[in-house]
Amino acid sequence: MSRKAVANQAACVIEATGMYVPDRVLNNHDLEKIVDTSDEWIRTRTGIVERRIGEASETSGTMGAHAARQALERAGIAPQEVDLVICATITPDMPFPSTASVIQAELGAFNAACFDMEAACAGFIYALQIGAQFLYSGTYDTVLVIGAEKMSSVLDWSDRNTCVLFGDGAGAAVLRRDETGTRRGLISTILGADGRYGSILSVPGGGSKLPPTVETVQRGEHFLKMSGAEVYKQAVLRMQQAASGALKEAGVAAGDLKLLIPHQANRRIIQALVDRLGLRDDQVFINLDRYGNTSAASVIMALHEAVEQGALKRGDLFMFAAFGAGLSWAASLMEY
Ligand code: UT7
Repeated sequence: MSRKAVANQAACVIEATGMYVPDRVLNNHDLEKIVDTSDEWIRTRTGIVERRIGEASETSGTMGAHAARQALERAGIAPQEVDLVICATITPDMPFPSTASVIQAELGAFNAACFDMEAACAGFIYALQIGAQFLYSGTYDTVLVIGAEKMSSVLDWSDRNTCVLFGDGAGAAVLRRDETGTRRGLISTILGADGRYGSILSVPGGGSKLPPTVETVQRGEHFLKMSGAEVYKQAVLRMQQAASGALKEAGVAAGDLKLLIPHQANRRIIQALVDRLGLRDDQVFINLDRYGNTSAASVIMALHEAVEQGALKRGDLFMFAAFGAGLSWAASLMEY
């Protein structure tokens, strides 16, 4: 969906971003002591070197609040000015209330409506698009979009197929309409999903289908399960389709992108995407070596770091692309 049909509307822009990761670092050598793996296997198969793991007191809510506070401070916007908090997460603090409500309370953003958004690793891009609709419609003026995950809370630390891949963290963006008429902001977005692939990446237990019992816990059904190779194939295909679709809709060539900011799951998946889109290696931002896969937090953490490092400046074109459980996938073309 692009903004072509509503070309006279003010653009939805990112005023500022924020990010938070726990202090505790778990590197590949630490994992060698936990499961039958090696630093060499993890580096060559994924590109991950280390990841952050939250303490017991750190939750998606507390991490999301830290990231959101930083984004608001950088935007010079008071918490009371926020109209809506959307939190993308698959590791909410609890089934309910929403993690967005937890964050609202931590921030003191009591004029804001709150809800969580679940599209796994594609969740931040979905939430960005939803937030933009509230701005385009004029319903709200200031929207806080957050991706926050404590993936360590759903990992089976005896399963080497999954526990080496993920990490904890949060990122946030403050969205507003551009009142200056000079910024393009969000240009085009492709969202997609195919529920037939639901079983290849899931946490099967703990919901209404398999409520927690002693047996479900003993069977480890509250842990993340994944058929890695199947997810891999779909990831490359779907992210490429979404990214190409968003470029085509906007009439923008891949070569005009300053940066691709892809979901940080696996360096080989990212390289395949870069090759398929015909991008140069200097057009992609990667930080998965330091954080692993932080699911819904991944692309917004990467955007935050790209801006911090000066790799992306106001006026530059960039593209988010992500995929995850659902399956779900998404890409958004934006001018920063
Ligand atoms: O946000 C979406 C989340 N999911 C993903 O992004 C996952 C997408 N998939 C992937 O990134 C890759 O498929 C993996 C990194 C998960 C696996 O890489 P692969 O090249 O597809 O490896 P594989 O699944 O074909 O497994 C190769 C071997 C297997 O051994 P055998 O059966 O060939 O003897 C695995 O048991 O590697 C073994 N293996 C490991 N060995 C050492 C799996 N995990 C590990 C490990 N350390 N941690």
